[in-house]
Amino acid sequence: MTERETWATRLGFILAAVGSAVGLGNIWQFPFKTGTNGGAAFVFVYLLAALLIGLPAILGEFVVGRRANINAVEAFERLKHPAWTVVGALGLLTGLWILSYYSVVGGWVIRYIFGSATGAYFGDAAGYFASVSAGWEAIGLHAVFMAVTAGIVAFGVEDGIEKATKLMVPSIVVMLVGLAIYAFTLDGSTAAYSYYLSPDFEYLANNLGSVVPFAVSQAFFSLSLGMGAMITYASYLGDDDSLPADGSLVVVLNTAVGLLAGLVVIPLLFVQFGGVPDAAAGGGAGALFVSVAQVFADLGTAGQALGAVFFAVVLIAALSSAISLLEVVTSYVVDNYGYSRPATAFGFAGSLFVLGTLAAWNTAWLTWFDTLAYSVLLPLSVLLGVVFVGWVYGPQAVDEIKKGTSGGETFATAWLWSIRTYVLVGVFVTLYLGVTDIYAAPPIPGL
Ligand code: TRP
Repeated sequence: MTERETWATRLGFILAAVGSAVGLGNIWQFPFKTGTNGGAAFVFVYLLAALLIGLPAILGEFVVGRRANINAVEAFERLKHPAWTVVGALGLLTGLWILSYYSVVGGWVIRYIFGSATGAYFGDAAGYFASVSAGWEAIGLHAVFMAVTAGIVAFGVEDGIEKATKLMVPSIVVMLVGLAIYAFTLDGSTAAYSYYLSPDFEYLANNLGSVVPFAVSQAFFSLSLGMGAMITYASYLGDDDSLPADGSLVVVLNTAVGLLAGLVVIPLLFVQFGGVPDAAAGGGAGALFVSVAQVFADLGTAGQALGAVFFAVVLIAALSSAISLLEVVTSYVVDNYGYSRPATAFGFAGSLFVLGTLAAWNTAWLTWFDTLAYSVLLPLSVLLGVVFVGWVYGPQAVDEIKKGTSGGETFATAWLWSIRTYVLVGVFVTLYLGVTDIYAAPPIPGL
């Protein structure tokens, strides 16, 4: 075996993992899913899920990646459990599925960079979203987003994107903090904070079956779990890195960005609509676009520049996530089947573009794509990974966790226990509820 590259610095790994994790999941999805699932009740379950299930699960992927030292599909062979290759394969599939509609939303973001610069939505933010989010324009910009993603993966301007990512995380945080403070000063935002931060446990009790699976899957999506990404990243880790320390940092940073985005979007929705409006009025997939867009509109000329910068940074966040989604499959195929990198990247991107046109044509389809990912693909993929790492690979996994962690014995033992018991049960229940949810109300999109 030749010596493989490893991350030059611990910070390099953390930033790459956070760059992949922080994306539309945090900035676009988290606030609107909070708004459509009962506000703080959802946030409450999400926080528990990220910490109690997401953290052990991300450590499981780190273990597989660092131990195997190779991509997510071959990892299981390298660990001498070839049958479990199906976990890696399912992960790739899940990632591809997600990328097909992720790119549509990426296209919206591109639209909003220009829409801000020209002030196109300044007259009617909600109406503008309704008119540009589906149809030919959305398809065109979905193509642009996909092509840029494929171009970067194909020709590897990764140096550039890596530098951009390093700037991206801090600038996203700065902008979101600024917007959150601004929202706080506006009339009418006060009621938003209790909606967002003080859980309505009665609502939770009555809607447990939908809030729990959505919150748990949201944690998976946001942490880039169940898609081979974290396995691949961790395969470049050296043995002196502490997996628990790195994993915790990724979880905390990623969760913080989501919470912050909620602190912007929810209060702004309250200011404009007196609450979270329903999806048709801009409270669903349009929440980020409609709420934040209105702020820039209110700021007039300054808002044009600020809006363009804000959406440009969101675009970088979306691109850095999309690139790592596509990179996982591309590198696997290039390494194993000898196809050229550009042909592979554009081949996948082209096929996903075609699939995604459905989502770009009608937001009902986009919601359906998203529901399938959330309710079935993500929990299934994570569940299989958890079973593998807990019950099949158990003792060796503990050894791996202990490496590079001083006094890691107790932690590693507790981790294995959690993975084998409540994490497994939690993910299973999430999958079960997700499947029954889809089954009970099949989301058949009207065309
Ligand atoms: N976590 C990213 C986000 O929150 C999106 C994402 C999901 C992702 N799965 C991934 C990114 C796999 C890279 C790899 O937007």
